[in-house]
Amino acid sequence: MGYIGRREAAPIIVEGLKKLEYRGYDSFGIATIGNGIELDKHQGRISDSSHSAGHLKGKIGIGHTRWATHGVPNDINAHPHTDCLNQIAIVHNGIIENYADLKRELILRGHTFRSETDTEVAAHLIEEAYESEKDLLSAVQNVVPKLKGSFALLIISKGVDQIIAARYASPLVLGVGDGEFFAASDMTPILDYTERAIYLEDGDIACITPVTVEIFNGKNQVQRPVELVDWSIEDTRKGGFAHYMLKEIYEQPQAFYNSVRAITRETIPAPIRNPESVTVVACGSSYHAGLIFKYLLEDSCAIPVRLDFASEFKYFSPPIKGVVIGISQSGETADTLSALKQAKGHNCTTLAIVNVLGSTISRIADFTLFMRAGPEISVAATKSFIAQLAILMQIIDFIGDGEYEEVLLSGHRAIEEVLLMDLSGAVELCRNANSIFFVGRGPFYPVSLEGSLKMKEISYIHAEGYAAGELKHGPFALLSKETPVVAICMPGETYGVMISNIKEMKARGAPVIALGEQGDLELSDVVDIFIPLPETHPFIQVLTSVVVLQLLAYHTAVALNRDVDKPKNLAKSVTVE
Ligand code: M6R
Repeated sequence: MGYIGRREAAPIIVEGLKKLEYRGYDSFGIATIGNGIELDKHQGRISDSSHSAGHLKGKIGIGHTRWATHGVPNDINAHPHTDCLNQIAIVHNGIIENYADLKRELILRGHTFRSETDTEVAAHLIEEAYESEKDLLSAVQNVVPKLKGSFALLIISKGVDQIIAARYASPLVLGVGDGEFFAASDMTPILDYTERAIYLEDGDIACITPVTVEIFNGKNQVQRPVELVDWSIEDTRKGGFAHYMLKEIYEQPQAFYNSVRAITRETIPAPIRNPESVTVVACGSSYHAGLIFKYLLEDSCAIPVRLDFASEFKYFSPPIKGVVIGISQSGETADTLSALKQAKGHNCTTLAIVNVLGSTISRIADFTLFMRAGPEISVAATKSFIAQLAILMQIIDFIGDGEYEEVLLSGHRAIEEVLLMDLSGAVELCRNANSIFFVGRGPFYPVSLEGSLKMKEISYIHAEGYAAGELKHGPFALLSKETPVVAICMPGETYGVMISNIKEMKARGAPVIALGEQGDLELSDVVDIFIPLPETHPFIQVLTSVVVLQLLAYHTAVALNRDVDKPKNLAKSVTVE
């Protein structure tokens, strides 16, 4: 986060960093230009401290909240980093891949390093370039081509009334105020002040003063449009909920409805309406949404779908052709971005499904469909997952003959119904477990993967999602009365075989929590805890079962006193490979 303008910078940056903390939260720091470079850095979370940085003076400043890559989280490795003379301060997102070589050369030239970070090399390189160039912008323009990897950089220097911002493969947006500018990784902290945004492109270097911004790509000056962001400041607040995650779970009926409504036959690009085959690339929850899509599209339209973890795709990509869909809430996930670039290299038509306007993935894809989930702050993906499914189900509907239109337009009502479900019995079983299995068949298999991801991510209980028929091929050895199984058993082709699987698990002592259709006595009779879901279309039962599993993970995590919105070791946008 950076600020330059007519107000004191430090308090604005402190508040901004609190909003950006979901991107990384092991340490934080701020630098302002007051009496020289004034610096304050700490291990830990800015939101846990009563930190105001009030002692830092000046109307120009930069700050950072860190997710460690190079060097443990401590005060010294926290950003900003400075040069030998403490005249230049820099914050950095991303990774400088060639930092080791650069550091070696800088040390040979007499520079002294304080931290273990990759970032500090940039501070020393700019120090050298500034000495010869005597101009901060030119110094950064000289240094940036030497850096390999990904970076969003903000740089300030003693005696210079500017912030220099540089971007390559890591997001950076400028907020345009009245006699002031903001810079941040996303718009969340800027919305307090302005809705006007300039999204920097790869290779851009911006020279910002309180009243002007000049943007260069390399050394050539370029124009970037000022765009209006349609998220409101209210969307970024907790609104009376104990956690962002709970608020976002409750926003799902609206997120689903809005996302369904946003997609019409006309908004779906022509190559996507009639594909011979589709490849999907994504990570984490977005990958699970892709797997649900694979089951549903292949079943409804007999169109083959190939699904890859984006992190694998770049290095082991198959001989792909046709349409490649990248799914990403943030639109910044480095692996998904690389996979889509790879697909473009194969001359594939690329479609991005993302939530964040102006995000990098939306910019590089041939076509983008935006989810209408609104800002998602909690690290665990919830409403974005439901919004992804809304769009993917709409695509299926338009590839097919439109038979799901009514179903999708009313799906939000079933989601509303399950929000208030009492899960206390299931939570009690889960909170005492060492390990939990989640199982399902067909599209409910990826639902089980998603349920297990949510559980392990926020409750820290080991959990695994499995295709229900696979448990007997190994994991049965782990079943015991301490290992609950959460089974999703909805009516349909696999109902009978699911009941058999559940009985096999019961016979091995595992307590079973089953999600089934309300009124299903056969199922409720064989399981320990029965969670009834509304009787509705199978597409919508996918949604309601996901929502119940999100709530199960949420309440289990709360019962265990976990940090629900900011689970340990994680960050919301993973902008490194
Ligand atoms: O922003 P993306 O959808 O690309 O993020 C992908 C994953 O990092 C993300 O879904 C992650 O798995 C979530 N924290 C899971 O809740």
